[in-house]
Amino acid sequence: QRIYAPTLTALALGLTAQGATAQDLRADALDYFSALPSTTPAVHDNPITPEKIALGKALFFDPRMSASGVFSCNSCHNLATGGDDNLETSIGHGWQKGPRNAPTVLNAVFNDAQFWDGRAADLAEQAKGPVQAGVEMANTPDNVIATLTSMPQYVDWFGASFPEQTEPVTFDNFAKAIEAYEATLLTPSPFDAWLNGNDDAMTGQQVAGLQTFMDAGCASCHNGINLGGNGYYPFGLIEKPGADVLPAGDKGRFAVTDTVDDEYVFRAAPLRNIAVTAPYFHSGKVWDLTTAVEIMASSQLGAELSEGEVTDIVAFLGALTGEVPEVVYPILPAETAETPRPSG
Ligand code: HEM
Ligand code: HEM
Repeated sequence: QRIYAPTLTALALGLTAQGATAQDLRADALDYFSALPSTTPAVHDNPITPEKIALGKALFFDPRMSASGVFSCNSCHNLATGGDDNLETSIGHGWQKGPRNAPTVLNAVFNDAQFWDGRAADLAEQAKGPVQAGVEMANTPDNVIATLTSMPQYVDWFGASFPEQTEPVTFDNFAKAIEAYEATLLTPSPFDAWLNGNDDAMTGQQVAGLQTFMDAGCASCHNGINLGGNGYYPFGLIEKPGADVLPAGDKGRFAVTDTVDDEYVFRAAPLRNIAVTAPYFHSGKVWDLTTAVEIMASSQLGAELSEGEVTDIVAFLGALTGEVPEVVYPILPAETAETPRPSG
């Protein structure tokens, strides 16, 4: 009996200390990060309705939004493979290779600005880009509208989605519907469950990785709901990575702001689902997440992390892989005699 007493006390103390540590770590983490909300967020100037989500989904999957009739948003942001294309840089119109890696559309609604250089303020502005980009969908707004207007079902869907408007089939509304659909593409992860109070949602190694991610300084740039997507930093803040990873031709935000200070400045990449969206960086030159983390440590922090620390961080990043909402493939309206034919 006597023998057990101190042991039990020690055990109880130990448990309390451990409980306190988990609480402290969660409190520290909540200073940097926020859990994903459990419902579709409101977006600026675009009330989200079920009709608009359904229309946006059809548009997201419709290859006829491209000039060739081959590329839909889902070609490069494949919802079956992490919301991206798993290519170094995307292949678009006429088999052209684009200049940058495709980021995931999953949770993109929580990025403060879109694209590697943040040149689009929100998803509605963003959605107008790829349709017109020569290396992506190579289409024109007029041709998109002609295509949509030629199919009565689409005209009805736009009417139901924008009931207050007399001529609802517009390029602006096309973009707003896609934005509404994208706002539903949220992937709650073990990290969210842990942030919300479930100590068992992450493994011990993932928790250790989270601690290192914060202690080493990763979280100073990768924070907020998406662990990134909300600030701009020179890629190579401390030490410029080689031209194999950071090709000299892409100067990032410099092209947006025309300011010398913005040369090679990029948006801190959002890290949700990072384990399933290789290859990495805007160049797409790095296929291995461990290597990507090592490059970040030296280029952004000037830190030499131990092998164990890197492994722990990679384990933590794995806890950011979330559950993708079930996607039922939409059946699209059939084209009519008026539908513009594919070209190029
Ligand atoms: C970037 C959505 C079509 C390739 C993005 C982003 C979103 C998005 C939300 C920004 C994500 C972020 O910054 O984190 C869409 C939608 C499309 C579409 C709604 C259909 C209308 C395509 C197609 C391709 C493509 C067809 C490939 C041919 C890319 C690339 C980027 C990108 C390479 C990064 C570009 C840069 O940062 O400069 N897209 N996308 N997208 N998308 Fe798409
Ligand atoms: C990109 C992780 C520290 C700024 C990335 C990527 C990963 C990552 C995995 C690639 C994302 C993708 O390809 O989608 C980490 C880790 C860090 C760390 C584990 C700590 C060891 C930092 C710091 C900063 C930063 C401290 C800011 C000073 C950026 C930027 C990018 C990026 C700007 C985009 C690079 C590009 O243009 O390709 N980070 N990061 N990171 N990170 Fe970090």
